[in-house]
Amino acid sequence: MKLQQQRKLNVIVRRWAFLVVFAVSMIPLQAVAGPECKATDGLEVLPYELSDSEGLRFQISKRLGKSRGQTRRGQDVLVDPERGNCLSCHQVSMLEKLADSENPDAKLRFGYQGTVGGTLDGVGNKYSIGELRLILVDPKQAFPDRDIAMPSYHNKDNLVDVTPTCQGRPLLSGRDIEDIVAYLSGLKEEIKKP
Ligand code: HEC
Repeated sequence: MKLQQQRKLNVIVRRWAFLVVFAVSMIPLQAVAGPECKATDGLEVLPYELSDSEGLRFQISKRLGKSRGQTRRGQDVLVDPERGNCLSCHQVSMLEKLADSENPDAKLRFGYQGTVGGTLDGVGNKYSIGELRLILVDPKQAFPDRDIAMPSYHNKDNLVDVTPTCQGRPLLSGRDIEDIVAYLSGLKEEIKKP
């Protein structure tokens, strides 16, 4: 082989070797970064202020963002497994009744109701609007003396082991929170189970 051909071959081999090493070295990085953070794409945590409250230590008395909460949309976000997914831990008697109807769609949406977080019946009487807002935004601040197993839905600080691609993003938007708060504030009755 001529010397020039040998040199050309060497350059090609080196280039490929570099590419292979580079690609392999990226594998652990991708594994650490985890999958794309689709659910919360583009959402931002809106600023909010804590103020004193009667029932809990704090509340968030001002609305998150401009839009007024819509009860109907709040119910949709609450039951949606890809958004609030609240029924995985909570139970709402009103929705349970709907699930008992013959409507297969209602069965699918409201049929499973978890027990980890207890019933949400009556929370509209138990807490003020501002307190409900804080419970959703950051339950750890709402119940500082309890190690509460509920996600912080509109918070990006002091969270542990969040997938790197999801860091800095909230689970729900300010509007979603307002809509759920509107829904919860309408759950006035504590329904006693037989
Ligand atoms: C992983 C489980 C889990 C999920 C998901 C969850 N919560 Fe909770 N939630 C809890 C637990 C646990 C408590 C504390 C219950 C207690 O100590 O009485 C709680 C407490 C609450 C309270 C206060 C209840 C009371 O009577 O004091 C409200 C209101 C609430 N959750 C609303 C929601 C809403 C709305 C969602 C969805 C956006 C949600 N939660 C999602 C676990 C969860």
